[in-house]
Amino acid sequence: MDSFLIQGGTPLRGEVTISGSKNAALPLMAAALLTADTCTLRRVPDLSDTRFMLRILESLGAETRFDQGTVTIRAASIRGFGDYELIRKMRGSICILGPMLTRLKEASVSLPGGCVIGTRPIDLHLKGLAALGARIEIDGGYVKTSARKLVGTNIFLGGRAGPTVLGTVNILMAACLAEGVTVIESAACEPEVVDVARFLVSMGAKIHGIGSPTLTVTGVSEMHGADHEVIPDRIEACTFLCAAAATKGEVVVHGSRPDHFAAVIDKLQEAGVRMKQKSGTLLVSRPGRLRATDLTTLPYAGFPTDVQAQFIALMCLAQGTSVITERIFESRFMHVAELMRMGADIAIEGPSAIVKGGRRLSGAPVMASDLRASAALVIAGLAAEGETMVNRIYHLDRGYERMEAKLQALGARIQRVEGE
Ligand code: EPU
Repeated sequence: MDSFLIQGGTPLRGEVTISGSKNAALPLMAAALLTADTCTLRRVPDLSDTRFMLRILESLGAETRFDQGTVTIRAASIRGFGDYELIRKMRGSICILGPMLTRLKEASVSLPGGCVIGTRPIDLHLKGLAALGARIEIDGGYVKTSARKLVGTNIFLGGRAGPTVLGTVNILMAACLAEGVTVIESAACEPEVVDVARFLVSMGAKIHGIGSPTLTVTGVSEMHGADHEVIPDRIEACTFLCAAAATKGEVVVHGSRPDHFAAVIDKLQEAGVRMKQKSGTLLVSRPGRLRATDLTTLPYAGFPTDVQAQFIALMCLAQGTSVITERIFESRFMHVAELMRMGADIAIEGPSAIVKGGRRLSGAPVMASDLRASAALVIAGLAAEGETMVNRIYHLDRGYERMEAKLQALGARIQRVEGE
């Protein structure tokens, strides 16, 4: 397993271009299952997760091609039974269930397991599909769904922690080819959901209320191929903002959509980070000391859970005590113990991390436990004194395109150490 070796203490300086969004690209690829025509997706990030999604689509019978950021998918004839081992390995693959069921009237996929950030149930996905008329059975580790036809209805999709991103996308896709009108209440409003909805419209779907918590879908009998450019990855952009701020650097971020991460910009400014927007670019710098800042993760347009770990790494360097509360995933604090190895002072109190900042971080061997936790450890390593070895960076390869190359171009002393 590969690792990153980081010599900390160099301020990041220069320019970085943000890649297409992983969390939009995965369901966009699944949407291609809704038609027998060819779909083209541009600006798809080259990641192990996007490559994996293509393998899953191929295992269902689709023809795929990935060439310099452009993916083409032709699902002319597909089967409704997903490969157990393949699907089980990537949670994001659950979003193939809605399109497969609505197109084939039968779909079975392996039940995704929990992961280190929480139990990650799919009850809301299943509730939505059942409301559309699907029979659902859990058997031998599979979710088996079938329906003579899917019929539109009113579905409330809110859960304990608010709306569900992939659940909304799954039901939205299933509703596109259902009979009649489906109204999804408490739909997720994340930019990735909006991007998928726009792609579905360009494929012939009829959707109203895109970007709002109420989505109204009037079913159509057929969808067709379409060409679409994936939105920029807001989480990647925020990760680079945090890294620039942590190292007291100055970075120009190209190709992002700052309107997609206004909550993060607001908190960074509160923490003393300077941000200037100019004709599609974002200039980030940190002139003085960082200030302690409290925040709570929330569904969009609140502060994203996917930036919580990176912000904690930053708050380790701020003067004073910050309270960071996680409201989306119950156990998403695996990075905390690793940050403490580097000298951070953090206590977990229920859903909150109490970060006593202002201490010097020192390099250490640390272990990445999930994608965003890994990003937090890289940020801490870049800001720390001395050498940090971040082990198990296959998590980062799942979600950040060419991360070390982009950081090296900003002057970071980071290199990949290949493991067996
Ligand atoms: N939930 C339920 N029941 C369900 C579905 C979700 O209770 O059926 C709960 C979850 O346990 C959680 C909350 O609802 O407490 C929100 O989860 P959501 O369904 O929105 O998460 P997701 O769609 O599975 C996507 C991203 C995650 C991101 C979350 C929240 C993808 C592939 N994944 O997951 O991204 O954290 O939305 O914004 O789009 C990441 O990129 O590192 C990542 C984990």
